[in-house]
Amino acid sequence: MGIAAELEEVSVQLGPVRILDSVSLTLEEGAHVGLVGPNGAGKTSLANVLCGYYHPSGGRVRVFGIDTTRAEPVRIASLGVRRSLQSVGRVRGITALEFLELGMETLWPTSMLHTVFGTRAGRRAERSATRLAASTLREVGLDRFGPVPFEDCPYGVRKFVDVLRTLVGGGRVAVLDEPTSGLSDGERAQMLDLLARWMGESAMTLLLIDHDVSFVRSLCPDMIAIEAGRVLSTGTTSSVLADPAVIHCFMG
Ligand SMILES: Nc1ncnc2c1ncn2[C@@H]1O[C@H](COP(=O)(O)OP(=O)(O)OP(=O)(O)O)[C@@H](O)[C@H]1O
Ligand SMILES: [Mg+2]
Repeated sequence: MGIAAELEEVSVQLGPVRILDSVSLTLEEGAHVGLVGPNGAGKTSLANVLCGYYHPSGGRVRVFGIDTTRAEPVRIASLGVRRSLQSVGRVRGITALEFLELGMETLWPTSMLHTVFGTRAGRRAERSATRLAASTLREVGLDRFGPVPFEDCPYGVRKFVDVLRTLVGGGRVAVLDEPTSGLSDGERAQMLDLLARWMGESAMTLLLIDHDVSFVRSLCPDMIAIEAGRVLSTGTTSSVLADPAVIHCFMG
């Protein structure tokens, strides 16, 4: 097994604020790793670095062995990294089906000619992305929301569609940023069921950010805990959760 993604002593400085401070993390291919920490610890920022939205002020990032420290998000997506949104409220002007199709870039031809002239291969890819998105919605019983503007879908539906966008379509690494935030207990159980089934059947690597520690523990044998931009503890989930530094941080 190779390494899917790696952060090596990554620091992020935004103006005077140091958001991440020398964070190292290795995601083995196929591993399922939880990322936990209190509000403002830097979890979303770490996801932003991995996906190219923030560029580190120090350290290195590699995805499947390729140095992506300064790479743009589209380049990192092309390596197979998919990421769900902590806040789905900002997505507007697109139907649920179209939003789901965005996760299927790997099915699309990348050449400029295809993009500009809409060649037959391009149209074929477009149709197959639409078919896959539609059948995905059908399988999870959400097909009636396909043509509905994303912003008009119930909140829980938006969270599911966003998570599905990261899973379906050939991505190799899923970075899920708080898939359970704002969900009811019932929806949370459905999300757990969806992710457990998907991760059981696919070879995808998972970095799962969530405040619900028992949800993370159910899905991830390994864990990294951060606080104030620094790694607090890393290792197996049970060892991290038993670490006095983590207990102190979560209880305090
Ligand atoms: N673009 C930005 N500009 C200024 N400060 C930022 C920016 N992004 C993140 N921060 C700050 O960095 C810190 C870490 O934020 P981040 O969103 O990564 O935390 P988090 O662990 O995801 O928190 P939460 O659990 O609330 O989602 C916070 O203090 C936040 O205010
Ligand atoms: Mg966050």
